[in-house]
Amino acid sequence: MDSSFYQLEPQGQCSGSVQVPGDKSISHRAVMLASLAEGVCLIDGFLPSTDCEATLAAFKSMGVQMEALSPTKIRIHGVGLKGLRSPQGELNMGNSGTAMRLMSGILAGQEFPSTLVGDESLTARPMKRIQIPLQDMGANLALSNQGTPPLRVQPSNGLHGIDYQLPVASAQVKSCVLLAGLYAQGRTCVEENVRSRDHTERMLQAFSYPIEIEDNRVCLSGGKQLTAINIDVPGDISSAAFFIVGALLSKTTELVIKSVGVNPTRDGVIEILRRMGANIEISNGKTFGAEPVADLVVKSSELKGIEIPQHLIAKSIDEFPILFIAAACAQGTTRLNGAQELRVKESDRIHNMVIGLQKLGIDVDEKPDGLIIRGGKIKGGEVDSGGDHRIAMAFAMASLVSAEMMIVRNTDNVVTSFPGFVDSASQLGLRFK
Ligand code: S3P
Repeated sequence: MDSSFYQLEPQGQCSGSVQVPGDKSISHRAVMLASLAEGVCLIDGFLPSTDCEATLAAFKSMGVQMEALSPTKIRIHGVGLKGLRSPQGELNMGNSGTAMRLMSGILAGQEFPSTLVGDESLTARPMKRIQIPLQDMGANLALSNQGTPPLRVQPSNGLHGIDYQLPVASAQVKSCVLLAGLYAQGRTCVEENVRSRDHTERMLQAFSYPIEIEDNRVCLSGGKQLTAINIDVPGDISSAAFFIVGALLSKTTELVIKSVGVNPTRDGVIEILRRMGANIEISNGKTFGAEPVADLVVKSSELKGIEIPQHLIAKSIDEFPILFIAAACAQGTTRLNGAQELRVKESDRIHNMVIGLQKLGIDVDEKPDGLIIRGGKIKGGEVDSGGDHRIAMAFAMASLVSAEMMIVRNTDNVVTSFPGFVDSASQLGLRFK
């Protein structure tokens, strides 16, 4: 049972200057590609969250040597694509869908069996979406009868390339297939209707692995090699999003968030908030290897409700809990549809947010693939995150505008993506008790 909770006094501030921890998606991929590379990689700005540590532990148990120079600086001695060893026991991916789905692609190409397990939330998440393309490639993968973990991989007679059209835009499925493609005979292509985050593609290119990208289609051929590089991980825009909205909602605020990843496949949150009237400036643009990075300057703004455009959903898929808080505090109505994927994240993010917002006094209608939020006044009270890190942080930010004290239950999992959240948020002026 969970005993963790946040208690927050109303009407705090969210101003000043802050650096958010490293990007979760990029940290996972950095560990994976560095482990499979020829040579030694130094990863700087690694996210020391329990999700990314699950990925580190998995490669350690498959014989990859790592030196933690600090919690965020790790030297990895790559073993090459064929150098992994059979792990001792099951590989526990904790709460991380990204770790489980991307690892499956790599493990499908190994000559040893492996079993991937996870926590209660991960054990309920759909894995058929990776089993189908991996089986098409010749992999041998078993799931529970419900299509969920544990995920058991047996060595196959060799993988072959496929041409796969993703039914739903998903960077996890795309990356899983591309990583399996490294081990496949011939060419593997993945195509999606809307482009999901492209960190895997950018990082493969940075490791000198030849890939071809044309619009929303990515192809590579198996059997080449990854060449070690050093990686600087940008700040995670998904973590920055909480403070962006916090600054918009609190009065007479200016907040600077330094060195945030602004990859165009991830910046939907900025575009959606700007459409709602947000004052967000992007300055000091630079690149960290293959990834664009910038400082964000956010000023408190009067927000208005909008219809969230379909083409921005994949680009902001992890930011909806905090976007719903922004919508709850905006003038007018915000509508979202076509976002049924939110129901199969770390929790059912549509349902859990609807329940929480209603408890806080907001008028919300739940739809199968989205919701309708009528902006109003947050009265405060007690909400439950459903064990979902992003919902916990989103409701914590709602305290900035609540009339009364807020209690957010079930906050343990915040460490899966944002270790140090309470410290950073307190420094900016949130009033944790
Ligand atoms: C991720 C992709 C997204 C996102 C997840 C991280 C990744 O999932 O929600 O938090 O790192 O590839 P989907 O690919 O399932 O949309």
